[in-house]
Amino acid sequence: MLNGKTIVLGVTGGIAAYKAASLCSKLVQKGADVHVIMTSSAKEFITEMTLQVLSKNAVFSDTFDERDPSVVNHIRLADAADLVLIAPATANMIAKMAHGLADDMLSTTLLATMAPVMIAPAMNVHMYGHPAVQENMKTLERRGVMMIEPGEGLLACGYVGKGRMEEPESIVAVVERFFAEKEDDGAKLLEGKKVIVTSGGTIERIDPVRYITNDSSGKMGFALAKAAQQMGATVHLIHGHTDSPPPAGIDAEAVQSAEDMYEAVLRHWQDSDLVIKAAAVADYRPAETASSKIKKKGDTMTLELVKTVDILEQLGKSKTNQFLIGFAAETHQVEAFAKDKLVRKNCDLIVANDVTAEGAGFRSDTNIVQVYDAGGLVEQMPVMSKDEVARRLLTIAARRMNGEAN
Ligand code: CTP
Repeated sequence: MLNGKTIVLGVTGGIAAYKAASLCSKLVQKGADVHVIMTSSAKEFITEMTLQVLSKNAVFSDTFDERDPSVVNHIRLADAADLVLIAPATANMIAKMAHGLADDMLSTTLLATMAPVMIAPAMNVHMYGHPAVQENMKTLERRGVMMIEPGEGLLACGYVGKGRMEEPESIVAVVERFFAEKEDDGAKLLEGKKVIVTSGGTIERIDPVRYITNDSSGKMGFALAKAAQQMGATVHLIHGHTDSPPPAGIDAEAVQSAEDMYEAVLRHWQDSDLVIKAAAVADYRPAETASSKIKKKGDTMTLELVKTVDILEQLGKSKTNQFLIGFAAETHQVEAFAKDKLVRKNCDLIVANDVTAEGAGFRSDTNIVQVYDAGGLVEQMPVMSKDEVARRLLTIAARRMNGEAN
């Protein structure tokens, strides 16, 4: 079954596009949340309306057709996808992918996504055999794109040979196998567990038009919330200011200040099993929040700041059975500061990273982290996507919560 899986289905312009309707319908019947992106030539073969009705979601084809100003659709879809499946994939789309072109909604989404990509090529037998197509496919395979080989038989163009898109049933079976295998290595290790994830930066108001915040994008926390849900947990995501909206399908609560975040966490704290504090919480807030806009006066201005509540420290003091994971974003002496935070805040694990390192830090899609417990270094992870870091970290935590070794 594909329950809880978000699949971006790319449909490109070949005669096999008519099979995309049946494929879309079968994926939805299996429980997947399917979001279709069509190229303009695909629309010559099948209508947007057909795929909209079958997927029960809006169909996208124009990168610039942005109806909601708060989101950028190709990025939202790229981030939400657990899998991007292109069926049929024409020679043209395969070439665009191989060369990194981004001149339509689908190719742009493909460049922006960190999700696995699977393609089902379909074309004339001679086109399929052309060295340019073959080389492009090899390039994609080297990059980890999964191929669903076309079948042999009578092609719509009249030739008999290789190039016919695999039947929708078989594609669905490949997709199901892919998720089943993926689940096996992550397993449902958090089945039945309640998880709170905090992410993003808090906002501490100075007056109605000004505030103090930080560079947190929320990406690491979002990846953790998504991974925890995929591993079977019931997740509540509490997030401050973030660069993009929270992932689709996650129970998310938006808050502003450190105080708001503390109150939101406390409401869920008692019956939670795992709490991950990936949020960048302000350490200080303005002593007073002015009720009207502060007017400019002298050449200097002093803003008095007072300490905010240290949420993690408070949780560390009151924890009973909860497993507590803190984050330590540092610019120097990473290990020493991280270990100090682990002890001071009574965490079970602390995830440290040097935010100045290439491939790590706030706005990056990748991270390089070290995980510590009271005994010292548990794991030094190489540069990995934030999704992979999340899955690995949660596997370590879940095994410890279940009393197993890592
Ligand atoms: N944290 C928190 N509440 C605060 C400050 C931090 O819950 N008011 C949490 C963060 O979510 C993170 C951990 O504490 O999980 C470490 O945050 P960090 O800002 O690195 O640590 P600080 O204790 O604020 O130390 P410093 O700013 O001196 O590095």
